[in-house]
Amino acid sequence: MFVRPNIAGMQPYIPGEQPSGSGFVKLNTNENPYPPSPRVVRALLAEAWGALNLYPDPMADAVRDRLAKRFGLKRENFLIGNGGDDILTIVTRCLVDEHDRVACPVPTYILYRTMADLQGGEIIEVPFGEDFSLPEGLFGNEARVTFLANPNSPSGTAASVSEVKRLAESLDGVLVVDEAYADFAEENCMDLVGTLANLCVLRSFSKSFSLAGLRIGYLAGPADFVAECLKAKDSYNVNRLSIVAAATALDDYDYMLSNVEQIRQTRRFLADSLDALGFKTLPSQANFVWTRAPAPGAKAIYEDLKGRKILVRFWDSPLMNEFLRISVGKRDEIDLLLGVLGKITEAAGDD
Ligand SMILES: Cc1ncc(COP(=O)(O)O)c(C=O)c1O
Repeated sequence: MFVRPNIAGMQPYIPGEQPSGSGFVKLNTNENPYPPSPRVVRALLAEAWGALNLYPDPMADAVRDRLAKRFGLKRENFLIGNGGDDILTIVTRCLVDEHDRVACPVPTYILYRTMADLQGGEIIEVPFGEDFSLPEGLFGNEARVTFLANPNSPSGTAASVSEVKRLAESLDGVLVVDEAYADFAEENCMDLVGTLANLCVLRSFSKSFSLAGLRIGYLAGPADFVAECLKAKDSYNVNRLSIVAAATALDDYDYMLSNVEQIRQTRRFLADSLDALGFKTLPSQANFVWTRAPAPGAKAIYEDLKGRKILVRFWDSPLMNEFLRISVGKRDEIDLLLGVLGKITEAAGDD
């Protein structure tokens, strides 16, 4: 073996399916069903005819400055990445040495475990309780870094800002509040940035800004921590097109907000309709719902839907195998899904 033992021994992260054919109803990877702002697309076209022969700004300051203005922080509080996942890589690279601990509540975003494995760290997984409030076992843990997806995936549930603050205050290590879905939620932790030395917030342009295909995310945190993280990133980690797209998307914030409002309305409709069919749906603050499936069970329903080219997410593991995660698509996609689910559950009831 040429590779390090921890790489050879680890399970690869398996992303949700990205089908190559056409005609799929894709409700499996929490993409935004609406296109990005037309202003973003126009800016991208102009940039494509511009200076692609030149390297991009290594710091992506056009994005940092807009974020600083929007959130009342400084440019130095932001690190821009090639998607939120790049931020997770950079942060873990900075914080976690071999045998260091990485903590998170579970079930959650499985990539946190992958990040710990890559560094040869030890993952400490603390199960959420029934109601998905923050588990007491997470408070005061001794990990170098604690990852908290808030809103959480796959559950869609969120801890309050005061609970997150209490968690950060209980830790000696760093708390990364992963707010990839925060624009769909009632509150978020951005106002805590800079008030606690060990708290950072991660955000993504993939979900609320409809830019999953371009890969842009960022970290907001104390300037001294961000300065250290900057040393650990690839020098040109965000490309020219992504920088232009993110900057323009921030200039057209209202476009994002109106899509988010539409998705929240469809989310309510989806959750109510699922419950009327016998599913039990957790209260969601994200652009997806997690729902406990009635007969014939989550796995059978997932497979039946897949056979009809409707993709939702299912994990065949102990904490998750009774649930389906369904992204909030356009209303016609959700109507189609619900029609099929009605038939599947009715047929199971007849058995
Ligand atoms: C909880 C969570 N964090 C971070 C990400 C990463 O987002 P991206 O790399 O697309 O910005 C995702 C993507 O699905 C996610 O679910």
